[in-house]
This record gives sequence, C-alpha cells and structure tokens, in this order.
Amino acid sequence: MLSKSQARLFFLTATAGFSLVFLGLTVDSIRQVPARSHADAMTPEVLHGRELWDDHNCMGCHTILGEGAYYAPELTKVVERRGEAWLKTFLRDPEAMFPGQRKMVNYHFTDEEIDAVVAFLGWIGGIDTNGFPAEPDLRAPPPATAVSAVATAGRPEKFGQVCVACHSLGGQGGNVGPALDHVATRYTAEKLDAWLANPQAIKPGTAMPDLKLAGNEREELVRWLMTLH
Ligand code: HEC
Ligand code: HEC
Repeated sequence: MLSKSQARLFFLTATAGFSLVFLGLTVDSIRQVPARSHADAMTPEVLHGRELWDDHNCMGCHTILGEGAYYAPELTKVVERRGEAWLKTFLRDPEAMFPGQRKMVNYHFTDEEIDAVVAFLGWIGGIDTNGFPAEPDLRAPPPATAVSAVATAGRPEKFGQVCVACHSLGGQGGNVGPALDHVATRYTAEKLDAWLANPQAIKPGTAMPDLKLAGNEREELVRWLMTLH
C-alpha cells in the first residue's frame, strides 16, 4: 500500500508528466499548422473564390473538407480529380458538359470569377488533410493523367483536360463515350470537325456535349485525331 504522501507524489508526478506530453504534442500540432494549411499560398484570388463560395452557398449542396450538404459531390480534391480545364468548362456551362442530365446551377460566372473559384478549390485541395477523403469518388471518371504515354504523343492539351473525362485511348480514360482508338479509320477530318462543332446537330439527343470549342482548338484536335489509325 502507498502511504498518503507517496500517493500524492505519484499523482503529482504523473499529472506533471502527462501535462508535459500533452504540451509537447500541442506545440508540435501548432508548428504543423502553417505547413498543413499552407497559408502562404492564400492569394487574393483564392480569397475572392472563397467569397464566391460563401455568397452562393455552394455548401448548401456540396461538402468541402467533409462539411456541408451531401446532395452533390465532395469537392475537396476536385481540382486534382478533374483538372482545371474541365472545371472551367463545367462552371462556365454545367449543362453543356452533360446535356439534359445535370442539376448543378449555372451561376453565369465571369471568366475571372471562374478562375477565382478554381483557385479556391485548388487551394483547398492543397491542404494536407491526412489523406481525407479516403475513398476515391466512384462517381468521378479517372483523372486526366491516366492516359498512357503511347496515347499522349502530340496530344492537344484540351483532350487531356476535357475529352478524356468521357473517352478512353489505349484502354485508359472515361467510358461515357466510345473509345477513340483508331478513330481516324472511322471518320474523315470534315466529319470530325462537324461533330466537334455541334454534336447535337449531327445526332440529336446524343450524350456528347457541345463543348464550345474555339476554332483553333477544334482544328488542333481534328488534326491529332486523324493520326489515330
Ligand atoms: C443546388 C445544388 C448545388 C449548388 C448550390 C452548387 N452545386 Fe455544384 N454541383 C451540384 C450537382 C448536383 C453536381 C453534380 C453534377 C451535376 O449533376 O450537375 C455538381 C457538381 C459540381 C462540380 C463538379 C464536381 C465533380 O466532381 O464533377 C463542381 C466543381 C461544382 N459543382 C462546384 C460548385 C460551386 C463552386 C458552387 C457554388 C458557387 C456549387 N457547385 C453550387 C449541385 C450544386
Ligand atoms: C461528357 C462526355 C463527353 C465529353 C466531355 C466528350 N465526349 Fe465525345 N462522345 C461522347 C459520347 C457519349 C459519344 C457517343 C455519341 C453518340 O453516339 O451518341 C461521343 C462521341 C465522340 C466521337 C465519335 C466516336 C465514334 O467512334 O463514333 C468523337 C470523335 C468524339 N466524341 C470526340 C470527342 C472529343 C475530341 C472531345 C473533347 C473535345 C469529346 N469527344 C468530349 C461523350 C463525350
């Protein structure tokens, strides 16, 4: 049996010991905050994006860092998952990306506002969340970087950023649309150009969106697609 004074000594020593450990851990956590939240990367553009995020109550439908509503996809790592170009195309006109099926609001953002929202989402994605969200989002297509090196030679940037969300090449990419291997054996350049300019005009009701490509983007895509024999 411990005497009363021994017990008190034991209590005091243990308390002091645990307090020190706790203090040490706290200091360690606080030291990591700047690195984890990478506050230095918070630019005025990121803050503007944050304002737009709050003003439009995006959290009424989406979660970020696990907070918000569960109606729409979790957006913490969305920039990594989708790529900036896909996001900008989508935010400019959510409906065009997925005609007739989508429930995401078109906010008619200006280009500058879209850049700010994407910068904010990119900043959120850069926070070290210890691996959160843990599960891959199964609703999302594979990341644009999933296309094999064979299929990327001379590939227009636009393809890797947008088209690959729905099409595969060499077995990698999305499966919303057909694989584009050997597409040059199925179409002429004129047909491809007309298709990319306005898929609905060629095949009404098709799930291929009008991506509102600029003339030079279309030209570059067609030239490259015609090399896929
Ligand atoms: C009324 C609900 C609603 C609100 C409010 C909303 N969204 Fe969405 N959002 C959706 C839905 C639903 C989707 C899934 C795609 C679809 O069905 O259109 C989506 C998809 C997205 C995506 C693509 C996610 C992915 O993984 O494909 C992004 C990015 C996005 N929203 C950003 C925003 C931003 C930024 C705001 C605020 C400015 C916002 N959303 C407000 C409903 C909403
Ligand atoms: C949101 C998904 C989606 C995106 C993004 C998309 N496509 Fe498609 N694409 C489709 C679907 C679905 C079809 C099949 C159309 C049909 O038969 O109704 C298709 C068909 C095609 C075809 C015809 C393929 C064949 O074998 O018949 C080509 C070529 C094509 N897309 C090129 C592109 C290019 C280039 C881009 C990027 C600029 C792109 N697509 C972006 C969904 C998409």
